[in-house]
Amino acid sequence: MRVVMSQSAMEFITPLTLQALSGHPVASSLLDPAAEAAMGHIELARWADLVIIAPATANLLARINAGMADELITTTCLATEAPIALCPAMNQQMYRNVATQANLTSLTSRGFTLWGPASGSQACGEVGPGRMLEPLEITELATQFFAQNDSAELKPLAGKSVLITAGPTREAIDPVRYISNHSSGKMGFALAKAASDMGAAVTLVSGPVNLSTPEGVTRIDVESAQNMLDAVMNHIDNKDIFIGCAAVADYRISEIASCKIKKSAEEMQLALVRNPDILATVASLPNRPFMVGFAAETHDVEAYARDKLKRKNLNMIAANDVSIAGIGFNADANALRVFWPQGSQDLPATDKLTLARQLLSLIVKEKTNT
Ligand code: PMT
Repeated sequence: MRVVMSQSAMEFITPLTLQALSGHPVASSLLDPAAEAAMGHIELARWADLVIIAPATANLLARINAGMADELITTTCLATEAPIALCPAMNQQMYRNVATQANLTSLTSRGFTLWGPASGSQACGEVGPGRMLEPLEITELATQFFAQNDSAELKPLAGKSVLITAGPTREAIDPVRYISNHSSGKMGFALAKAASDMGAAVTLVSGPVNLSTPEGVTRIDVESAQNMLDAVMNHIDNKDIFIGCAAVADYRISEIASCKIKKSAEEMQLALVRNPDILATVASLPNRPFMVGFAAETHDVEAYARDKLKRKNLNMIAANDVSIAGIGFNADANALRVFWPQGSQDLPATDKLTLARQLLSLIVKEKTNT
C-alpha cells in the first residue's frame, strides 16, 4: 500500500503516522525531488492496482471531475489506469448540493466507483448523508474488489467445488422442545464467504441460524443431524473440499413424542441414541473430497484434535478451544490450531472472516501437496 496525502490531510494526521502504518514513505508533493527519486508520480499511478480516495471531499471530487492536475492526488487520478474508488466525506448539505451531485454523476458515468457515503450524525453536528464509510468497511470493499479479480493468486479456488456444514443441529424432544448447542453459524458462514471470494462454487448446509446467505453461495437449510447428513450426501458428488464446521449433536432422542410432553413427575429421563457421524461418513466414500474437520474442545485440545484427525480419517482438522472467553461459539472472533498429518499451524485470534481466509489458504496449500 502507498499513501498520498493532501496538504489539508496533513493538518489532521502526520505523514509519519501513515508511513509507519503503510511501511513506505508518504507522498504529498508534486514537486518534491526526494519523493520523485523514490517513486515518481507517474510511476506511482502506474504501480497502483486500485486507487482509493478517502476521504473524498466535495472540493476534491469537483477537482477530479474537472480533470485538474495541480497537486499529487488529482495528478495521480489523471495518470492512473487503475480503477478509482471514491469515499465521499462532507457535510450533508454539501453532499446534497446539485453541484456535488452533478460531479458524482459525471464521475460514476466515467467509471469511477462510489463507496458510500454513509448517513448519520456528522462532525459538524448535523445528521444526514455524507459520512465517510468506516475504515473497516472500506477495507472489506477493497478485499471484495480484489477477490472479484480473476487472477489465480486471488482466486486460488477457481473451478473448485466446496461443501461446508455450519451452525447447530436441533434434535426434537416433542413438537415444541429440542436439544441443541450455542453454535451461531458465524464461523461456517465466514468460511462459505471466504471460499466463494476465492472463486469456489460453494454449497452451504446450515442448521437453524440467524444469518444471511453470503452472495453467490448455495444454501440448504436443515434441522437435525440426520437432515444434515441427508443433505450432505445428496450434494457431495464431485466436491473437491468438504469442511465440517457444524456443531452436530452427537445424540438424538430415541423416540420423539408426537404430542407436547406434559409435566407430571418431579424427574424425567430422556433416552438418547447416537447420531450418524457426517464427517466420518463422507471420509469413508471411495472418491472422497479433501476432508477438513473441526474439533470444539474445552481441554486437552491438541490430543483430542489429533485423535479426531486420525480416527475420522481426515486430511486436516481445525481445533477450536471453546473454553477461552470471547472466541468460538457465538462470538465474532475465533482462534484455531490447525493440524494435518505432516504439520500444524496456529491461527491466532482474529475476526472469523479473516480466520476463514487463513484456514482456506492453508487448505489450498496442503491440498496441492497431497
Ligand atoms: O457457529 P459459531 O458460533 O461461529 O461457532 C463456531 C464453532 C465453535 C461451532 C466451530 O468453530 C466448531 O468448532 N465447530 C465444530 C463443533 C463440533 O461439533 O465439534 P466436535 O468436536 O463435536 O465434532 C468434530 C467434527 O465432527 C466436527 O467437524 C463436526 O462437524 C463433525 N461431526 C460431529 C458429530 C457428528 N455427528 N457428525 C459430524 O460430522
